[in-house]
Amino acid sequence: MKEDSRIYVAGHHGLVGSAIWRELQRQGFKNLIGRRRREVDLLDIAAVQKFFAEIKPDFVFMAAAKVGGIHANNTQPAAFLFENLQVQNNLIHAAYQAEVRKLLFLGSSCIYPKLAPQPLKEEYLLTSELEPTNQWYAVAKIAGLKLCQAYRRQYGCDFISAMPTNMYGPNDNYDLESSHVLPALIRKFHDAKTSFAATVTCWGTGAPLREFLYADDLANACVFLMQHYSEEQFINVGSGSEITIRELSELVKRIIGFKGEIVWDESKPDGTPRKLMDSSRLFALGWKPKVNLETGIRMAYEDFLSKQLR
Ligand SMILES: NC(=O)c1ccc[n+]([C@@H]2O[C@H](COP(=O)([O-])OP(=O)(O)OC[C@H]3O[C@@H](n4cnc5c(N)ncnc54)[C@H](OP(=O)(O)O)[C@@H]3O)[C@@H](O)[C@H]2O)c1
Repeated sequence: MKEDSRIYVAGHHGLVGSAIWRELQRQGFKNLIGRRRREVDLLDIAAVQKFFAEIKPDFVFMAAAKVGGIHANNTQPAAFLFENLQVQNNLIHAAYQAEVRKLLFLGSSCIYPKLAPQPLKEEYLLTSELEPTNQWYAVAKIAGLKLCQAYRRQYGCDFISAMPTNMYGPNDNYDLESSHVLPALIRKFHDAKTSFAATVTCWGTGAPLREFLYADDLANACVFLMQHYSEEQFINVGSGSEITIRELSELVKRIIGFKGEIVWDESKPDGTPRKLMDSSRLFALGWKPKVNLETGIRMAYEDFLSKQLR
């Protein structure tokens, strides 16, 4: 990528897209293109093709998708499957037609089978059954990475895919109906602190192990991959470190300054006992994350507070 390359970030207002945008600006790229959904609806193939014909992007980062936690996935299976398939089909096909030089598709760790060995290596894809709660989203993401591989094989397109672990950071979704675990904990502990509640109830036993990556680290990895990676094989992007949900809850409680107790509602499901990506393929290319979990949560909470005040 050159300083004046035309770079389109799809979903540039979301958690990941806004981080990619900041990272590209930080690295001096001057010709960034972004559109909100109300300007270009990526579900509409004619609108997407017209947009690509107008802007003629050289590079595309695909951070637009329908994203959500367990509850949202479970209650809107059709929307998760249809919208994700549609958005990625439209973007990938339009990028091929507009002769985009390179495209990065973003998937997720939920592409891996529910009972795959840990840590999750890229070769475990499609070796057994998916986690049923988010299978709709996972099937769409698997189709997306396969589509990139297919366009590479049939048309020689330089389309690559990255599978990030759980993300958090500025511009995250803090709506408890649709958010992921870390932003949900930030919201719950913040609300409990400001309403002087005595307790915060968390789901399950707190025993599951999870991995988290700060969004700016993912953004840095995406720009790195766009510049240094050109393989059909998709690639994991994680931090390489894991924490129990119980330890994570204690950490968020401490950062936010909530003085009450945590109550564990063991009638609620725990989910997969452990979910850690094996990111050694990416680390071997020379990329490493920079932001540790405590620092990242502090920065995410500052961003959350700044938006509450507006
Ligand atoms: N969050 C995570 O923990 C996580 C983990 C692994 C992978 N990922 C992947 O990272 C990518 C981005 O996720 P995110 O967390 O940044 O999601 P997000 O914060 O919800 O942002 C998604 C963006 O997609 C745009 N979008 C969705 N549907 C659209 C449509 N029909 N037309 C135009 N724009 C549309 C939205 O634009 P508007 O704001 O204009 O509506 C929004 O800005 C996804 O592919 C996701 O699978 C996320």
